[in-house]
Amino acid sequence: MDLPIRLVILGAGDRGRTYASYAAAYPGKARVVGVADIDPAAARAVAQAHGLPPERVWGDWHEAVAARPDCDVMVIAMPDATHLEPALACLDLGYHLLLEKPMARTWAECEALAAKVREKRDRLVVVGHVLRYTVYFRKLRDLIAGKAIGEVVSIRHLEKVGYMHAAHSFCRGNWGNTERATPMILQKCCHDFDQFVWWLGGRRCVGVSSFGETSLFNAAHRPEGAAARCLDCPAAVERRCPFSARKIYLERQDWRYPFVDRSDAAMEAMLRSGPYGRCVYACDNDAVDHQVVNLRFEGGVTVAHQMESFTYSGGRETQVFGTRGDIVGDGRTLTIHHFDTRTTELWDSALEAGTPQGSGHGGGDYGIMDELVRQLTAGDPAGYPAIFETSLESHRIAFAAEASRRARGALMLAD
Ligand SMILES: NC(=O)c1ccc[n+]([C@@H]2O[C@H](COP(=O)([O-])OP(=O)(O)OC[C@H]3O[C@@H](n4cnc5c(N)ncnc54)[C@H](O)[C@@H]3O)[C@@H](O)[C@H]2O)c1
Repeated sequence: MDLPIRLVILGAGDRGRTYASYAAAYPGKARVVGVADIDPAAARAVAQAHGLPPERVWGDWHEAVAARPDCDVMVIAMPDATHLEPALACLDLGYHLLLEKPMARTWAECEALAAKVREKRDRLVVVGHVLRYTVYFRKLRDLIAGKAIGEVVSIRHLEKVGYMHAAHSFCRGNWGNTERATPMILQKCCHDFDQFVWWLGGRRCVGVSSFGETSLFNAAHRPEGAAARCLDCPAAVERRCPFSARKIYLERQDWRYPFVDRSDAAMEAMLRSGPYGRCVYACDNDAVDHQVVNLRFEGGVTVAHQMESFTYSGGRETQVFGTRGDIVGDGRTLTIHHFDTRTTELWDSALEAGTPQGSGHGGGDYGIMDELVRQLTAGDPAGYPAIFETSLESHRIAFAAEASRRARGALMLAD
């Protein structure tokens, strides 16, 4: 395939715009040739940024697919409930896919997609597991694969969601309600499960047990006198609330990133009537705010995974325990201890070149685009199945973890 690869963006929200921005940053590698979004402002923003003519700007994704645009890759970046149907349709039409995670909303749907992907083996399906394409996680994976600490025995992994991210995404926002979106453990932690499977060379998971709850964001914890919306809340209550929408969206800029219009006036109007202005104790959320998952992989490797909303900042911390050493990762550096020589190495991702660093998720947002370009221009589909199957296994684990949590820790996927 020739460069630049041609993309059509289905869903011009935060993720769609992020992937489109790669084409603007690297015009020699990718070009946006069409966009579809039911929100005209979102579609317009991408169309303007990429100079698209009106006939390449659609509303609903069905219109874009029906037009059979001349492109290489369909980027499916719509809400969770709108992944499977366009993915199947686009594969049938012969497009390659960059498909946001979760790939589908139930395990049965994932299996239906997997059947289609296996049928179309020469089509590349990259699921949005962006962490795989960061310098940091690539290094960790290479150390494990290169037996730097011998054979892996067990892993301890903490996913720090961050209290503002939890309030934004998993209480007030798109993923607060499991029925409308998908369970937190799938939504947030399929990235982590994808990592475990990838680090362990594609091993299957043969045991899952999980506990988790919504412990804070519910009516029982609503402070006395709190209003249903933060802008209506008495100052004495609002000033003491760490989750105040006024604090998160009006007094700082960083949580405005998902919105097209980020002006103060637009933010204030949004807080008056939109979901992000609601009191965190008066939403329709049921997403868990903490969950632990114990995993057993083929060969007896165990993983203790913890997802935690109540952390000051976001990120991931990992310890990998091997027969000849251990690795301690803080999301930026890796410290490798060798038992035989009693020596320690320190590796710092900030000093490395490689994955484009300018993008989000530690460089993974552009890293995944780089990989897409690399795979398609190499023109060898032999590696395509493994890229998808690792993502599929991560989803199998997530659905099993949710089933276990709902069954109060019952063992799932037992071999
Ligand atoms: N890979 C990651 O790290 C990562 C991070 C965040 C979100 N996600 C996933 O990416 C997906 C998109 O998330 P987002 O944060 O960009 O959401 P978003 O709400 O910002 O964007 C979704 C866009 O899809 C549009 N849309 C909805 N239905 C449509 C339809 N029928 N046809 C065309 N457009 C339609 C919406 O108008 C919206 O602009 C979600 O599935 C989410 O879980 C992945």
